[in-house]
Amino acid sequence: MENKRWYKEMAVYQIWPRSFCDGNGDGIGDLWGVLQKLDYIKSLNVDGIWFSPLYPSPNADYGYDISDYKNIHPDYGDLDVFKQVLDGAHERGLRVFMDLVINHTSDEHPWFIESKKGKDNPYHDYYYWRPGRSLHRPPNNWDSLFEGGAWEYDEGLDEWYLHIFSKKQPDLNMSNPKVREEVKSIMRFWLDMGVDGFREDVITYISKVEGLPSAKIKLPAATGMGYYTNGPHVHEYLAEFKRDVLDFYDCFTVGEGPRMEPETALSYVREGKDQELNMMINFAHMEADCFITDFLQRPFDLRKLKKAFTKWQDGMYGKGWNALYLENHDHPRIISRYGSERYRTESGKMLAASYLFQCGTPFVYQGQEIGMLNNRLTSIDLYKDIMVKNNARIARKLGLPASKVLELAQKSTRDNARTPMQWSDAEYAGFSTATPWFYVNSNYKEINVESQLDDPDSLLNFYRSALLFRRDNPLVIYGRYKEYYPESKELYVYERSYDERRLLVVCSFTEEPVRFDAPADYELEKGKRVFSNYEENYIISNGFTTRPYEMRVYLF
Ligand code: NOJ
Repeated sequence: MENKRWYKEMAVYQIWPRSFCDGNGDGIGDLWGVLQKLDYIKSLNVDGIWFSPLYPSPNADYGYDISDYKNIHPDYGDLDVFKQVLDGAHERGLRVFMDLVINHTSDEHPWFIESKKGKDNPYHDYYYWRPGRSLHRPPNNWDSLFEGGAWEYDEGLDEWYLHIFSKKQPDLNMSNPKVREEVKSIMRFWLDMGVDGFREDVITYISKVEGLPSAKIKLPAATGMGYYTNGPHVHEYLAEFKRDVLDFYDCFTVGEGPRMEPETALSYVREGKDQELNMMINFAHMEADCFITDFLQRPFDLRKLKKAFTKWQDGMYGKGWNALYLENHDHPRIISRYGSERYRTESGKMLAASYLFQCGTPFVYQGQEIGMLNNRLTSIDLYKDIMVKNNARIARKLGLPASKVLELAQKSTRDNARTPMQWSDAEYAGFSTATPWFYVNSNYKEINVESQLDDPDSLLNFYRSALLFRRDNPLVIYGRYKEYYPESKELYVYERSYDERRLLVVCSFTEEPVRFDAPADYELEKGKRVFSNYEENYIISNGFTTRPYEMRVYLF
């Protein structure tokens, strides 16, 4: 029997604060803006909000480089307005989750500034400072995932520091017990204030192999990854955080685990006394049109997507819990990737049904619910994100022509998900009264919240009803998953079953007509059609021929 828990029954809305809503008219999203939108968030039928980092940060990686863990970035407000948001959310029955970024800090964090002052400084050992192998040779051959090598030299100390991400994001030395005490103190600070849990950024990277040895196998722009992913002490550290902090609160944790298999995820989230995290964000289904990173594009392959979905559904069922998502601040917009901009509403609803009714806790990213699309800028220089600039640099070095580099960047950049939220057809899409910090997508007059609010057929209202349906139906929350027709290149068909009830979800990933025949033990006429994305829904010979991106959900 399933182990019922509140975090399994909730759905979460993700806010990337800089682009959500500007409440003080400076062109930057903030917590005053969030306050104005709490009723809207509640109306989506979600149960919680995950905030991407709200902390003070020089924004080398837009908040994922933190310079003060116990405060709010002045662009977004202060602790008082944060408390108002927290109370306002709680009054509406919404929980609040913070992003916990503890693999690295900003190089402008006081700990790092201190650590640089001398080898005897008490903060020196908060980071990985090491002597070079020889003059001009860093301590090992690891790559930074964001820019060149993973080490930066400091002349004053004649030592190098490790940064898996940008050089403005030095890695914390988690093997130092003082650093772990700091992490616990950060967790307590927010939990004591009333926050309900954490999304833990690249949590699988926090323990590095002893001695930081050079990697024997070189990986393009990711050499060394095997030496800091799921490292030797990661479970110990997480167990310690749980024992000393999390166990004292009714809270929730979701880890982020790049390049992970369900078996490994279970080593973190397996239910039982040794469970360290409640669930893990995996990336497998984000690689159906690319290889490892969004930049390395390949044609979309539905079978790859289905394989990933099913592997995680089957691999976790009854043992651990899944985090379900199609969008977040790290990936381009899903309709532009796996759906069709031409059939935006149809494919948007189909994509929503393809994941919201799986087993797990669904996350919906700001703007996903109204079908926001990628924003193609005309030059790499116009983009803001450090990652796309790095990818473009590597691609140029490999000799790719400028036009190809731009095309890859446009398709893959995280900036696609970071354009201002489109609230209305007013100037700046109703996001702000001042020029926004980043380009608003020019399609905002057509795609915006206001135009969808009262339209029963809008994508927004589809999300609302699908999330309500999920919340009301234990079948969708706890039911068993089964996939049909795994070989189909056009259709994704899955079933959820619970007690005597079954849900059948049929999703077409093409605009071409495809014949769908109900699986052997189904009689479509006997089912109740609970969702579809076209008005007429004929059934012919226990099946139908799909229209572009058609989706139907039947309850039996
Ligand atoms: C994962 C975050 O989601 C991403 O935005 C960030 O750049 C890296 N971790 C580094 O913190």
